[in-house]
Amino acid sequence: MPGSRAQALVLTAALTLACSPAAPRPGPPDPGGHSATSGRTLEGLAPAPPMGWNSWNRFHCDISEQLIRETADAMVASGMRDAGYTYVNIDDCWEAPARDAHGDLATDSARFPGGMKALADYVHSKGLKIGIYSSAGWGTCQKRPASLDHEIADARKFAEWGIDYLKYDNCNNQKRPAIERYKAMGDALKATRRPIVYSLCEWGQNRPWEWGRSVGGHLWRTTGDIGDRWSSVLKILDQQVGLEQYSGPNGWNDPDMLEVGNGHMTDDEYIAHFSLWALLNAPLIAGNDLRSMSDATKRILTNKDVIAVDQDWGGMQGHKIRDDGELEVWTKPMSSGDVAVVLLNRDTTAAKLGVTMRELSLSSGRHRARDLWAHTDRVVADTLAATLPRHSAAMFIVEK
Ligand code: GAL
Repeated sequence: MPGSRAQALVLTAALTLACSPAAPRPGPPDPGGHSATSGRTLEGLAPAPPMGWNSWNRFHCDISEQLIRETADAMVASGMRDAGYTYVNIDDCWEAPARDAHGDLATDSARFPGGMKALADYVHSKGLKIGIYSSAGWGTCQKRPASLDHEIADARKFAEWGIDYLKYDNCNNQKRPAIERYKAMGDALKATRRPIVYSLCEWGQNRPWEWGRSVGGHLWRTTGDIGDRWSSVLKILDQQVGLEQYSGPNGWNDPDMLEVGNGHMTDDEYIAHFSLWALLNAPLIAGNDLRSMSDATKRILTNKDVIAVDQDWGGMQGHKIRDDGELEVWTKPMSSGDVAVVLLNRDTTAAKLGVTMRELSLSSGRHRARDLWAHTDRVVADTLAATLPRHSAAMFIVEK
């Protein structure tokens, strides 16, 4: 091949890689390490979607040092840590009402009497990591002091305390450009040299999936807040269509935290919520009270097969391949060549739904399919079908 043509091909390949929205996909991680926690360099902090817990969905401002300690304990005792959940994240309302005499962010000493450093040490002693929250505005959404124009000092403080994850909200932003505000904190976090996962909570207002990586973000919210309601799950789901190309290792679309176990949906609805979030490669951040969860909730949150779909090293986000109104088919290509499938019934009555091997881009003929919730195997001749109760989903791995 003439030199110039070879060079042109190399250049085209390089440009294609550089211009593709998601970073090039890595090979499998070393088999010994859990993909979400091994290889923690500053650049590769979230090779798989982060997993953990956050205080907001269940507790709002009713948080304390005791709650965080008990949650860390429960994360271990319940088997959540062993299932891959790593981050214990404190959301809004940990802050004292005003900065301290040095102008630094201070912790609410009534709710967190031992201070953040001791709490971080405790969480770390359990083999877990700790996250905190601030806003790219003059105040948080609950009007506590926040980090706009204090990025360097606040990031230093977080690093000094031993924080491993920052959720950075968008309230009270004075209408200043989002990219600048989020980049300032991204740069400040990098400058600390501490590996801190950076979670952009910008509610999808300025298409953060297009610039989240460039400001150092490892995940970015794509929508407003989730609620513990079926209609909220569906509304957020609908807003994920078309975003799959932007998500991948170290930069994930975040359809918001989980509501599983918070009490206002049925177990079928929670199973559908968890299945869909896993198929979307969502960060799996539980939002319930881990200290008192039912066995059913625990079974949902620790379903290893479903978590494995979320954490698959290929990092290809799933997408909708069929929309029949209230019935939908969503699939995700697994790095093994197998296909993860969610059959969804949004409707208030039961329905039967099937998908052909051809629709799954698999060869015609027999394929083994594993039901990830019933824990049963079957051989499918041509169509994978399920009867779906109202507001429910079934999830399968169909082998190649
Ligand atoms: C919202 C954010 C929620 C929660 C809340 C705290 O903006 O989306 O997830 O963090 O603020 O005040």
